[in-house]
Amino acid sequence: MPDRYAVIGNPVAHSKSPLIHAEFARETGQDMTYEAIFAALPDFEAEVLRFREAGGRGLNVTLPFKHRAYALAGKRTPRAEQALAANTLVFDGDSVTGDNTDGVGLVRDLTANLRCALRGRRILLMGAGGASYGACGPLLEQGPARLVIANRTVAKAVALCERYASHENAAALSASSYDALKGSQFDVVVNATSAGLAGAMPALPPRLFAGGALAYDMLYGTATPFMSFAAAEGARVADGLGMLVEQAAESFHLWRGVRPDTAPVIAILRR
Ligand code: ATR
Repeated sequence: MPDRYAVIGNPVAHSKSPLIHAEFARETGQDMTYEAIFAALPDFEAEVLRFREAGGRGLNVTLPFKHRAYALAGKRTPRAEQALAANTLVFDGDSVTGDNTDGVGLVRDLTANLRCALRGRRILLMGAGGASYGACGPLLEQGPARLVIANRTVAKAVALCERYASHENAAALSASSYDALKGSQFDVVVNATSAGLAGAMPALPPRLFAGGALAYDMLYGTATPFMSFAAAEGARVADGLGMLVEQAAESFHLWRGVRPDTAPVIAILRR
């Protein structure tokens, strides 16, 4: 019997994870299956336990259940603790471990795929919701010169920064409104807001991008207003497809102990 894995979400039909993990499994010769499970909102925890009892070995968790997956996990990795959310569950006997591979997926896409070094750079992270909670710690660990978290509701950016007050790189971290960014320049700007889903973008001042800057939107599929703005301002632009594949690769590595090559899978999804 092949080992069973799945992604659980609501909605889940659009998820690219089954395709991504099927490619990883084929590429690395792992004997496993990977399906998509739709959970009605009240049923998330019951569905997780049902899958585990049916012999499931691990789950990816997508919106809107990452916080509930974190709450359900009996053990949590430091990355999940930082994010207060889990996108990956590992079942081992009776134990459920919650991890979060989103932030490391972002960092790997930036550094390995896009060849954008982060150490000593000025990074702007836009948004202070779940996506930024996942990204903040892994970005900070790269040792940027500055990591500014800007959010429409500034108090949420302040609260996120405060979580890292005792981090060894805390001096680089600060919170901001969008308006107060006027006059600052950044080498890397990451859009972790959900504004693009509504065809909107944060109210950014002009000349935000330093020469050669990278503008990264965690969304993918269509160009967002932020991507268009960044291109018009002369920045190099990337979407979040690479992050999607890299977070999947990190989950796959956790479960299977082998690291798949992500480039062919990114290429398939781009086609
Ligand atoms: P989640 O936790 O799922 O990421 P969220 O907490 O609603 O969802 O976070 C969405 C993020 O996108 C927030 O940072 C939100 O800003 P506010 O905290 O001020 O609401 C941001 N966001 C959504 N729409 C936006 C818009 N039109 N302009 C700027 N920021 C926006």
